Amino acid sequence: MSGHETIIIIDFGSQYTQLITRRIREANVYSEVYPHDFDVSCFQNENVKGIILSGGPLSVYDEDAPKLNPAILDVKVPVLGICYGLQLLCLHYGGKVKQAENREYGKAQIRILYGTDLFKDVKNNSIVWMSHGDHLTELPEGFEILGKSDHSPICAISNEYERVYGVQFHPEVVHTEDGKKIIDNFLLNICKCTGDWTPKNFIDEKINSIRDIVGTDKAICALSGGVDSTVAAVLVKKAIGDNLISIHIDNGLMRKNESEKVGKLFDEKLNLNHIHVDASERFLSALTGVTDPEEKRKIIGKTFIEVFEEEATKIENAKFLIQGTLYPDVIESVTVNGTSATIKTHHNVGGLPEKMHLKLIEPFRDLFKDEVRKVGKELKIDKELVQRHPFPGPGLAIRVLGEITKPRLDILREADDIFISAIREAGLYNKIWQAFAVLLPVSTVGVMGDSRTYEYVLSLRAVTSHDGMTADWFSFEHDFLADVSNKIINRVRGINRVVYDISSKPPATIEWE
Ligand code: XMP
Repeated sequence: MSGHETIIIIDFGSQYTQLITRRIREANVYSEVYPHDFDVSCFQNENVKGIILSGGPLSVYDEDAPKLNPAILDVKVPVLGICYGLQLLCLHYGGKVKQAENREYGKAQIRILYGTDLFKDVKNNSIVWMSHGDHLTELPEGFEILGKSDHSPICAISNEYERVYGVQFHPEVVHTEDGKKIIDNFLLNICKCTGDWTPKNFIDEKINSIRDIVGTDKAICALSGGVDSTVAAVLVKKAIGDNLISIHIDNGLMRKNESEKVGKLFDEKLNLNHIHVDASERFLSALTGVTDPEEKRKIIGKTFIEVFEEEATKIENAKFLIQGTLYPDVIESVTVNGTSATIKTHHNVGGLPEKMHLKLIEPFRDLFKDEVRKVGKELKIDKELVQRHPFPGPGLAIRVLGEITKPRLDILREADDIFISAIREAGLYNKIWQAFAVLLPVSTVGVMGDSRTYEYVLSLRAVTSHDGMTADWFSFEHDFLADVSNKIINRVRGINRVVYDISSKPPATIEWE
């Protein structure tokens, strides 16, 4: 955290906590999530403008229910409790919470009884989204009832003097009609945030801090060709110039002509002057005969570290490693059964920093993917690169199911290229989170001309998503799918059947392995 205005979200385990962060940042205000039992003293000297207590899956009366740390209220900034957060505030200030006879899930209407700053411009009887079992039955002293719904007679409360607010519904979900207005009201009217957290400010701040940290030493960066590492490299290059050394390793598992294309882009358009390492044979030979997905990942990770280390040790004075880690990679989940939050840091080049005694710099560890895209746009990086679909570190190795061989990779590359080109031509690329083809280790019978064929099945996958955590399959026109299928079967030798994957995540995952 640095000097900018910050809203702290205390997480009590709600599935919507990350959405609260997103809504706040959409209002150009910076926000961070902390587990419920976090030591409050660590942000007391920061520029905290407000605190939001999230919802949570438990009842406040459950044995393991996480408690409100009263030190949070000593920070003396406005506080907004949402659902479980409201109930904790109510109990803390001496009100009563009971299990409701009718649990309330989904749509409800809010009748506004008292229009404070929190409900400025919010329509009376507008739809709000509920998800709770307990509800407030007695108002704490000093509080007003702001609104009620059919099943929650005390649905929103405030104590203007203490600057404490609470709502039973979830303003952060899109189904709450005026939810964004309520959050904006809290941020701008109540917490008096200025809303100046823009990509430009973010870039200026990061450039200064990276310069301070790196000094005259060197930093190295592994360029995959993806959005996150590329934007990170361009940002760091602006900060430390030629003291950034970028390395791109071709692992032989990239898409058609991809390594070549990104290589050109790094040097000709982004001036990164990178070191290009062709290690494709080394990766493919390490993967020979391997079919287990986790085993594939392990081998690829280990080989990557070996190759990268060999290159990096040639660079004198390298003390830092730049990584494009994003916020969803950092936060895993918050456990609410009384133990502290589990926060995982997952490094794309796992193990490397410790092994090489490099210090990690992760300029985007507080950002979501769409925010990195905005930073990339501000840095004037080509739109085409900034809008690229995510691509997994292990590459096509986890899209060629079964054994990975060069011929099978080539079959997949051709088919994938036809699919993605068709998506681009149809103007659908930016409507889709991720699209790709998967080569199945299954052969089926077909007929081409007058001959029997016995060739592979290919599956197409395209999903919509906000962050990759949940996803839905993309609904193409049937004619589009028919056309792509025809093109693939006619042009790609080795495939005689194409299917379309219509599974959502959960219960499926985006990738097949
Ligand atoms: P799943 O398949 O878990 O994927 O629904 C969610 C997102 O993560 C990407 N993914 C990976 N990225 N290394 C990566 O760097 C991996 O091993 C990996 N597995 C999945 C996937 O492409 C999707 O965007």
